[in-house]
Amino acid sequence: MARRERLICAAADLAELGRGVRFELDCNGQPQQAFVVRFEGRPRAFLNRCGHVPVELDWQEGEFFDHSRLYLICSTHGALYHPASGQCVGGRCAGRGLKPVPVVERDGHVYLLETD
Ligand code: FES
Repeated sequence: MARRERLICAAADLAELGRGVRFELDCNGQPQQAFVVRFEGRPRAFLNRCGHVPVELDWQEGEFFDHSRLYLICSTHGALYHPASGQCVGGRCAGRGLKPVPVVERDGHVYLLETD
């Protein structure tokens, strides 16, 4: 299985607990929206799809953290997700977490890890 890296953004674009960067990926031939934020020093990426209703989380582009900066939040009905795992921690996601996306930070950039 071949593995490729695709550039998402510069590492400096992701401040700790700051705005996220949206990007698109191919999921079995279908384009999917995703995002990456920085949490505990590492980039964390997920599909941009709420566990409650499959809508994107951010009304204001790139704003994924809640006011406390502890959790990722869905703007529509306020479901909360843990930024390290995407696990649902409260609200209407009812145990349905975010789907993690593999990324890596290297040489000042953040890359999506794609496999064939
Ligand atoms: S659509 Fe995200 S909480 Fe309802």
